[in-house]
Amino acid sequence: MCGIVGYVGERRALPLLIEGLKRLEYRGYDSAGVAMMEDHTLQVTKSAGRVAVLEQMLDFDGSKATTGIAHTRWATHGAPNDANAHPHTDASGRIALVHNGIIENYTAFKKYLEQKGVVFATETDTEVLVQLIGCRYKGNLEKAVREALAEIHGTFGIAVVCSEEPGIIVAARRGSPLLIGVGQGEYLVASDASAILAHTSQVAYLSDNEMAVISADGLRTTTLDNIPVTKDIQEVEWTLDQIELAGHDHFMEKEIFEQPEAMRNCMRGRVDLGEGKVHLGGIADVAREITRAKRIILTACGTAWHAGLVGEYLFEDLGRIPTEVEYASEFRYRNPVIEDGTVVIAISQSGETADTLAALSEARERGALALGVVNVVGSSIARETDAGIYLHVGPEIGVASTKAFCGQVAVLAMMASYMGRRRHLSQSTTQEFLEALARIPEQMEQALENSDQAKTIAEACAQRENWLYLGRGYQYPVALEGALKLKEISYIHAEGLPAAEMKHGPIALINDGMPVVFIATQGSQYEKIISNIEQVRARGGRVIAVATKGDHGITKLATDVLYVPHTLEPLQPLLTVIPLQLIAYHAAVTRGCNVDKPRNLAKSVTVE
Ligand code: F6R
Repeated sequence: MCGIVGYVGERRALPLLIEGLKRLEYRGYDSAGVAMMEDHTLQVTKSAGRVAVLEQMLDFDGSKATTGIAHTRWATHGAPNDANAHPHTDASGRIALVHNGIIENYTAFKKYLEQKGVVFATETDTEVLVQLIGCRYKGNLEKAVREALAEIHGTFGIAVVCSEEPGIIVAARRGSPLLIGVGQGEYLVASDASAILAHTSQVAYLSDNEMAVISADGLRTTTLDNIPVTKDIQEVEWTLDQIELAGHDHFMEKEIFEQPEAMRNCMRGRVDLGEGKVHLGGIADVAREITRAKRIILTACGTAWHAGLVGEYLFEDLGRIPTEVEYASEFRYRNPVIEDGTVVIAISQSGETADTLAALSEARERGALALGVVNVVGSSIARETDAGIYLHVGPEIGVASTKAFCGQVAVLAMMASYMGRRRHLSQSTTQEFLEALARIPEQMEQALENSDQAKTIAEACAQRENWLYLGRGYQYPVALEGALKLKEISYIHAEGLPAAEMKHGPIALINDGMPVVFIATQGSQYEKIISNIEQVRARGGRVIAVATKGDHGITKLATDVLYVPHTLEPLQPLLTVIPLQLIAYHAAVTRGCNVDKPRNLAKSVTVE
C-alpha cells in the first residue's frame, strides 16, 4: 500500500508533508513526491527512491506554500521510476493528484483520452484519473473530481489540488483508507493516522464513496453523489511515542519487546478473574448467534492466517465448534458453502488487506455472521463486519508482523473461552484458562530475556540458506510463523511444517549443520516431537529447540535451547513465538538486511 498526506492551513506545508511521508514510509517506499501550491502556482517535485532522496531535492527555505499534497509509492502499475511517482498532473499542469488504490478500467479511459489528444507522460493508472479530472474541469475542482469518479471503476483514496483554486484540497475514498485531521485553523488529509499524529489527534474517517473538501476555513463532507454527510470527529487512540523508535534500532525490535504491554492492553477490561469470565463488548450484541454457531470459518492472510490456525485449534478445543481456517485469497474465489449458523471471522492487523476484505464481503453476502479481529480502528474490515473485537496492541509499523500475531491469538483465545463457557466449559476450567492467560504478559517478559541467546544462534546460522521449522499441535502454526518471519526479513529460505510430516519428504533436505528449529514445549505431543528431534540429529541437522523452562533433558539432543515459561498448551504459542521472532530479527541484522523495510514488501497488501 502507498501513503498519502496533505495539508491546508496557515503553516508552511512542506516540512509537515515530508515528516508525514517519513512516518508513512512503512506503507511503501519505492518513490515519493509532493505538489505544493503557492498562490496560483503548482510546483511538483518527485523522485524514485526513499523520501530522503526527495527531501534533498526540495527547497525548504524557499517554499512558503501553505497547501500541499504528498505521496510515498509502492508500485503496482508502472515501474518505480521518477515519472511514475505521484503526484500526477493533468495535461494543463493545473491539477495534481495523489492516489492509493487501482483504477480498473484505466485502459479504456486512456484510449478515450488519447483520442481527445491527451498525451500521457507515465505508465500509471493514476495518470488516467487526473487527466480525466482535467478534462472534466470547468472551474470547479470538486465537481470535476465527482464527475470523473463517477466514471471510473476500482479503488481509490485520493487527494487533489488545483492551481486555480488555491487553499483547497479535495479528497475522496472508495476501498482505500482516508482520514481528515482536524487542527486549529488547519486540516490534514492522510491515508493513515500516523502521518498526522504529530499535529492533531482529532480525525474524521471517510467512509467508502465519501468526499471531503478542506480549506483553512473548514471541512465539508458529502457522498460522491453530493449528499451532505456529517462526520463524527474521533480521538485517535494511538500516541506519538507509539509510532517512534524510542531508542530501538528498528520498529520490529521495538514491537517484539512491546508484546507484554500490548497483551496487557489487549486483555484490559476483558479478562475478569474475579468473575471467571471474559467480557467482549464488541460482540455482545451478537452473543446469542455466536453461542449457537454450528461452524466457524476463520479467514486471513500471512501472519494473521497463522494466528487463525491457532484459532482453529482453540475454537475446537475450548468451544467444541467445527472450525476451519481459510486463506482469504482462496476463500473469496472458491464458491464456499455457507450454511445457517456459519460465523466467519476475518483476522487482520491493518484491516485493509484486500483479499481478507473481499472474503469477508463474500461471506456476508452469502448470509454468514461476519466478525472481525482487527487492530486498526475504523479500518475497512472493521467497518464491513457485523461485530468484532479490536486487538488494542497499538500501531504496528515494522513490516514483519509481531505483536499483532500475539494480539490476534489472545483475542481468539478470549473468544474461544467466551464461547466455550456458554456451551460446555465448566466454571473452574474457564477460571484456570483465564488465570493462565492473565499470566502471559509477565511470562513474555521472561521469554524476551532470550534475546542475547537468540542473537548468538542467529549469528552462528545466518549464512545457512535453508532452515526448517517444525512443531506439532498448537506449535505447528508457530513453526509456520517462525519460518515466515525468517524468510521475509532475512531472505533465508525457511519452511514450516507439522513435525510429523517431515518424514514424508522434507527429511531429504537435512544435511550437515542445517538449522532445524523445533518447538518442543511440554505438552500432549512432547514424546513425539522428541523422536522427530532424534531423526534430525541422526542426519546431522543442527537442532535449535524452544523448550519449557526446567526441561534439562532436551539439552542432550539440541545444539541450542531457548527456554520459555510453562503455560497451558493452548496458550503456548504466545510464548514460543517470541524466540522465533528474535532469531529472525537477529538473523536479518546479521545479514545486513533492512529489517523494517524488507525488499519487495510493504505493510498492508491492498492489492490482489
Ligand atoms: C508477515 C506479515 C503479513 C501480514 C499479511 C496480512 O509478517 O506482516 O503476512 O500478516 O499481509 O496483513 P493484515 O494482518 O494487515 O491483514
